[in-house]
Amino acid sequence: MTIEISRFDPIRESDVAVRDWFDLAAAIAVEQRPEFPAPEFDSYVEQLRLPVTAFGPQSFWAARDSGELVGAMRAIYLGQENSNSAFVTVNVRSDRRREGIGTQLLAGSLTDLREQRRSLVVGQNIVLDGPADRWATKLGFAKVQQRAEQHLRVKEVDPELWQTPAPSGFRMRRWIDSAPEELLEGFATLRNSIADAPKGDSSYQPPEWTPARVRQEEAEVRAAGRVHRFVAAVHEHTGTLAGFTELAYTLGYPSVCFQQDTAVLRDFRGLGLGRAIKAEMMRWLIAEQASVETVMTNTGADNVHMIRVNHQLGYVTVRITAFVEAETELLSARTQLRG
Ligand SMILES: CC(C)(COP(=O)(O)OP(=O)(O)OC[C@H]1O[C@@H](n2cnc3c(N)ncnc32)[C@H](O)[C@@H]1OP(=O)(O)O)[C@@H](O)C(=O)NCCC(=O)NCCS
Repeated sequence: MTIEISRFDPIRESDVAVRDWFDLAAAIAVEQRPEFPAPEFDSYVEQLRLPVTAFGPQSFWAARDSGELVGAMRAIYLGQENSNSAFVTVNVRSDRRREGIGTQLLAGSLTDLREQRRSLVVGQNIVLDGPADRWATKLGFAKVQQRAEQHLRVKEVDPELWQTPAPSGFRMRRWIDSAPEELLEGFATLRNSIADAPKGDSSYQPPEWTPARVRQEEAEVRAAGRVHRFVAAVHEHTGTLAGFTELAYTLGYPSVCFQQDTAVLRDFRGLGLGRAIKAEMMRWLIAEQASVETVMTNTGADNVHMIRVNHQLGYVTVRITAFVEAETELLSARTQLRG
């Protein structure tokens, strides 16, 4: 058996090759999250063909046996504070595992990772004790943070759980994609509070938010065809933007939403704002987007406050995953060893 590893360009590849790629990705998505609807071809391919993701530009590699796709890999090259890092995802067809294909895919990408000056390779959402965990551990990846993956099954949860009003002295603001100009400066300051979230031994550096960077991010989100909803709490007495939460989805896959950053300024913690802003987000979401079935979130497994708030809102912890990291040079040595 000779496995051929080559770059995969989703814009130039034939329709058949793109369809094969989708079939493999969809099978793995269903294997990993059977509780979610399977991805849809058109919206998947639209995202696949984006030159830049939410985290940075992406590249792909295919593993083929006699022309047949048996494995697929994606690397995302992070920007700015994290421009030494790449996020990688490696998928091998379920009937072709333990043949060294995953290792060969990773090995095949390392030249490019080095050329792009990526000294650190990061894997996300690795299910503890699953095949990816064992594979990554064997190759020398270290677990740097455990994460709790939580799901809120919107139609199975009593909406009474989202009836938490704003604490007295605060009022709620909502916006989609672009922060209102009068809130921009306060929002950039507030966004930096996410850096207080526990990050274990992860090397990931949270962004340093400025008004300009907020605007840049908003433009990237729009270009990527995603929708981001924001709810923020304003302290009425001082006008300070005290807390916010952010929820994202793509128009082509609106049944699953991703609850992203939530942060409250240090001086305003412990007042119930976290729960109130997330509850407001749910009220808004179900009023405007009837198709939503699940809201998914990932939080540091030791982030007891956020996890408790999520439970209060009806989220259930479905699995514990890990971020893993390895130096590119270490992987180079390890993947060659396996030959
Ligand atoms: C994780 C995954 C990519 C591994 O691909 P693979 O081609 O099967 O892995 P390899 O054959 O290169 O494995 C190399 C070594 O890793 C270890 N390993 C891999 N899978 C393992 C498993 N299920 N159980 C125990 N050890 C495992 C073994 O030591 C293996 O060497 P060996 O077979 O000689 O013992 C594959 O299981 C997969 O596609 N899983 C679903 C998608 C996924 O979770 N991707 C996320 C990864 S970022």
